[in-house]
Amino acid sequence: MKVITKARELQNVLNQHNKTQVIGLVPTMGALHLGHLSIVKRAKLECDMVVVSIFVNPTQFDKAEDLKNYPRTLETDLQLLEQEQCDLVFVPQVEEIYQNDVKPEVMDFDGLDKVMEGAFRKDHFDGVGTIVKKLFTIVNPNKAYFGEKDFQQLQIIKKMVDKTKMNIQIIPCDIYREDDGLAMSSRNTRLSKVQREAAPLIYATLLQAKSLFPQQDLGDIQTFVQQQINGDEALKLEYFEIADVDTLLSIKTFDDSKQYRAFIAVFAGSIRLIDNIALN
Ligand code: PAF
Repeated sequence: MKVITKARELQNVLNQHNKTQVIGLVPTMGALHLGHLSIVKRAKLECDMVVVSIFVNPTQFDKAEDLKNYPRTLETDLQLLEQEQCDLVFVPQVEEIYQNDVKPEVMDFDGLDKVMEGAFRKDHFDGVGTIVKKLFTIVNPNKAYFGEKDFQQLQIIKKMVDKTKMNIQIIPCDIYREDDGLAMSSRNTRLSKVQREAAPLIYATLLQAKSLFPQQDLGDIQTFVQQQINGDEALKLEYFEIADVDTLLSIKTFDDSKQYRAFIAVFAGSIRLIDNIALN
C-alpha cells in the first residue's frame, strides 16, 4: 500500500497502470470505521486498483468547532487500510488541495442542496461538491463509492457528475449499522456513554415511522417522531422529513409510483447524527 500526499505523484502512479484497469475511489475524511471498510472491501472486489482518500475537508464544515473536533486517527486508519489491501491512500494537506484559497466553489445542484442538510448547514454541499470534484479530477476514477447514510450527499454527487458529464460511475453503498442499529459514523466516537446509549433510538424511530407509512397521516408520523426523539433527554430532533428520493422534496401526498425515504437529523449534545431509511 502506497501513502501519497501530493496530487502530481498520485497521478504519476496511476498513469503507470494500464489504461484498461478499473480504478475505484473511496473518498473519506478518515476516522475509519467498519462502514468505510465494508466500502473498501466492495471496491476491492469491483476494481483493479483502489484509491482511498483521507482528507478532512474544511470547506464543508459550517462550524469551526465541528471542524476542530472532527476525529483524526490517521495512524490507525492506515493500519486498517493496509489490512484491507488498499492499493493507494491519498492524504493531502489543505494547501495541496486549496492552495491559498480555502473556499468552496458555488455550485448548482438544481435545488437538491437547499433542503434538509443544506437548509441546516450553510454552504455544506458546495464544500462537498468542491472537494469531490477536485478528487475526481486528480484521480479520474472509473467508479466512486459513497455511503447511503449521507443519502442527500450521494444524490448531489450524482447530479454534479451528470451536469459536468464526468465519466464516473457513482456506486451507492448500504448503511452499515452497529448491532443496536445506530448508523456507523466517525462522529459516534465522540458520544458520551449516556448519549451512546440513547442514540439507537434514532434508527428504532425510523423503523417505527416506516411501519406507519403510508397508512398514517404524514403529520401524525411527524408528531410521533418528534415525541419519540425529544422524549429522550439526551437527544434533540433537528428535522424529520419524508421525501421523494429524486427531488429530495418533502411530500404532501403519497404516490406509489414514486420512491420515498425518511430522513432524520438529531443532536446528542453538540454532536449531530443523521440517518435515513427507504420507505417503499
Ligand atoms: O462523506 C464524507 O466523508 C465526505 O463528505 C466526503 C465525501 C469524503 C467529502 O469530503
